[in-house]
Amino acid sequence: MSPDQILAELAARRQGDLPTHGGRTLAYVYDSGLEEADEVARQAIAMYAATNGLDPTAFPSLLSMESDLVGFARSALHGGDEVVGTVTSGGTESILLAVQTARDAAGVERPAMVVPTTIHAAFAKAAHYFGVELVTVPVGPGHRADVAAMTETIDRLGDRVVLVAASTPSYAHGVIDPVEDLAAVTRERGLRFHVDACIGGWILPWTPDAPAWDFAVPGVTSISVDLHKYAYTPKGVSLLLHADAALRRPQFFAHADWPGYTMLNSTTQSTKSGGPLAAAWAVVQLIGDEGYRDLVRRTLDGTRRLAEGIEAIDHLHLVERPDTSLVVVGTDDAVDPFTISDLMLDRGWFVQPQMRFGDEPANLHLTISAATAASVPEFLEALRESVAAAAAAGPIRIDPLLAEAAAGLDPDTLDDEAFDGLLALAGLAGEGGQVAVPERLGPVNALVDVAPPRVREALMIAFLDRLTR
Ligand SMILES: Cc1ncc(COP(=O)(O)O)c(C=O)c1O
Repeated sequence: MSPDQILAELAARRQGDLPTHGGRTLAYVYDSGLEEADEVARQAIAMYAATNGLDPTAFPSLLSMESDLVGFARSALHGGDEVVGTVTSGGTESILLAVQTARDAAGVERPAMVVPTTIHAAFAKAAHYFGVELVTVPVGPGHRADVAAMTETIDRLGDRVVLVAASTPSYAHGVIDPVEDLAAVTRERGLRFHVDACIGGWILPWTPDAPAWDFAVPGVTSISVDLHKYAYTPKGVSLLLHADAALRRPQFFAHADWPGYTMLNSTTQSTKSGGPLAAAWAVVQLIGDEGYRDLVRRTLDGTRRLAEGIEAIDHLHLVERPDTSLVVVGTDDAVDPFTISDLMLDRGWFVQPQMRFGDEPANLHLTISAATAASVPEFLEALRESVAAAAAAGPIRIDPLLAEAAAGLDPDTLDDEAFDGLLALAGLAGEGGQVAVPERLGPVNALVDVAPPRVREALMIAFLDRLTR
């Protein structure tokens, strides 16, 4: 293919994706609305695409940009000179490394970490990868970490506890955990305490009257902050900060006992493109402290207007009053969140359904970025229409046989045959054992929603397996 053909083909393939700009995709992407920031990022990523962060002595510019970003974050997050940091590929990698580092520093048998039930799923992944037991503690009022219950769990587990973590804010409910109270508990016991600020870490520094949550709080030992979220940099950049270099040391990995180069890594990846790092450096230089203050002000103002608008729509309510820029919307029984999500997509807006958890029904999750704040009235109009249409359609009715089949599956024995049977029952069987992804996901989501989490996981893994064969 010629370069022109290739670019045309890429553009054509992108047509089927969600838009990354314009503020109408309220999950997965973050849009500052600043064309200049996007342009400088594109140029920086292209300039650095082929560089390799594997060896900081070969590409010292990468080291200097990482150092600048850590320096910027350190002062935004009230850290002293002793705070150190690493650029990682994303929130999940920052969290994986925080857990691995804590596990290796403690070196205990049967390591465990104590977290609220609302902690991000990346901690479950870290537990799975690194053999650390994830001990989740139900949250208290307002979906915030329950300090007394967590303390009781920490003390019950004793020396097995290698890490305690909390979120600022949690993804699922958008509320900030009581960091100061938890830090007092962990500090007294000499435990590591990680604050997951993947979402809030680039909002709270510019939020008036934010509660203390960062390195200003004694006892916070590490923080994850994603630049590819509210720093509005291209994907592939997060920061993992530690309160001092000794806390970070077990994060680093070296291997000399083989015939090749001594492998020396600060992150999970070894060879890694300098492109995302250079783009992040470029965007942070361009927007800067004052620019972020302005973007945060607009984002929080938009979030407030959006939340107020939602409260005025029949059938909808706020699950919690938003602490930052995440809005979680519950529905009454007359409308189905999965239907609303499909109807919003028809109107050009992507809103993310969240499945039921414990006693809580499914709901809708909205991530507001600066670009969305500009079009809150259009969003609310589309939401009003979608809710009215969803109310007219009524809740999704699942064939009871199908619901029974989904809920009764044994996740440990879900083989190809059982999955094929279920796909056929749900009308999702495609050609040659593939899945046919329907245009409307509502009925599928509603079906998956009735299955317990372990069954849901098995179904999703089987689905991904088919999707990628
Ligand atoms: C609070 C929180 N932590 C961690 C993550 C994981 O980040 P990533 O998707 O960049 O791996 C997210 C993502 O939304 C998040 O909201």
